[in-house]
Amino acid sequence: MIILGIETSCDETAASVVKDGRIILSNIISSSAKIFEEYGGVVPEIASRKHVEYILPVIDRAIKEADIKREDIDAIAVTYGPGLIGALLVGVTAAKALAASLNIPLIPVNHLKGHIAANYLTHIDLKPPFVCLLISGGHTNILDIQGYDDIKILGGTRDDAVGEVYDKVGRVMGLVYPGGPKIDKLAKEGNPEAISFPRTKFKDNIFDFSFSGLKTAVINYIHSKEQKNEDYSKEDVAASFQKAVTDVLVDNVFETKSKKIVMAGGVAANKGLREALNKRAAKENTEVFYPDIRLCTDNAAMIAAAAYYINKEDFDINADASPDM
Ligand code: KG4
Ligand code: ZN
Repeated sequence: MIILGIETSCDETAASVVKDGRIILSNIISSSAKIFEEYGGVVPEIASRKHVEYILPVIDRAIKEADIKREDIDAIAVTYGPGLIGALLVGVTAAKALAASLNIPLIPVNHLKGHIAANYLTHIDLKPPFVCLLISGGHTNILDIQGYDDIKILGGTRDDAVGEVYDKVGRVMGLVYPGGPKIDKLAKEGNPEAISFPRTKFKDNIFDFSFSGLKTAVINYIHSKEQKNEDYSKEDVAASFQKAVTDVLVDNVFETKSKKIVMAGGVAANKGLREALNKRAAKENTEVFYPDIRLCTDNAAMIAAAAYYINKEDFDINADASPDM
């Protein structure tokens, strides 16, 4: 089964051809992230316009690089949400037009299910059940994956998503957007015990997160140093902040007692987090899976992979900025 996936939920215009939900034949990503460096974040209207510009060439390239003909495609998969509404609309409209012209099914895919499915492309034998820690720019969730399309939310963030906090802290440190990967790099050179930043733990739902207190503490630390004209070590701030984040993420996901933990989302690329998880997993005899680094952030291969396991076609879908799981 050959599925063409389309993804335009944020600032990546992506198309990919995937065979049988597991084998990537092509994976094209045209990112507008560079444009947003000077704005310090994604500007929705500009993102939509860039998608309009890139979408058709990106789809054409995905088909060409897969070395198939349009007629070989069995179904079109598209992200319908969550994401920026104007950005989503571009992908959904292109997908509908293509599915109609080829007379093949259109499979709507929730972006978060796509992030989880990035693991099916990396670990060819991985199957549910497992527990997933989904961490991205927009989401922070612990999920109980009972079946490919049977997902329960165990916990989530009560305020900021973890990637969002990385990017906000990065901005205050003067790093270009997105700050996440840059902080990860700086953290390697710093002392994680140098500064004591707060960790939030809830008693009523042990799987929930809150990062706004940590974010404020880091920003206050930097501002107070700047006001006093004192130097501070960016490396130490990055390392201490990253340690606070990873402590909480690792503790909460291990509270599930699952012996099979699967990571997903852009922040799953974080090296410090991978190290911390691997260490804890070795101690607790637990298996941990990560997508390939290139499949952690937004791409369309993960959307095509997720669609293979979703038994629902719907030609009348609409873009939805914040749909249910
Ligand atoms: O999954 P993704 O591409 O988009 C969303 O669906 O949100 O995730 C993007 C987020 C950004 O906040 C980015 O800073 C973060 O993932 N990110 C990282 C790393 N690589 C990407 N955060 C921390 N460490 C990284 N190595
Ligand atoms: Zn994403």
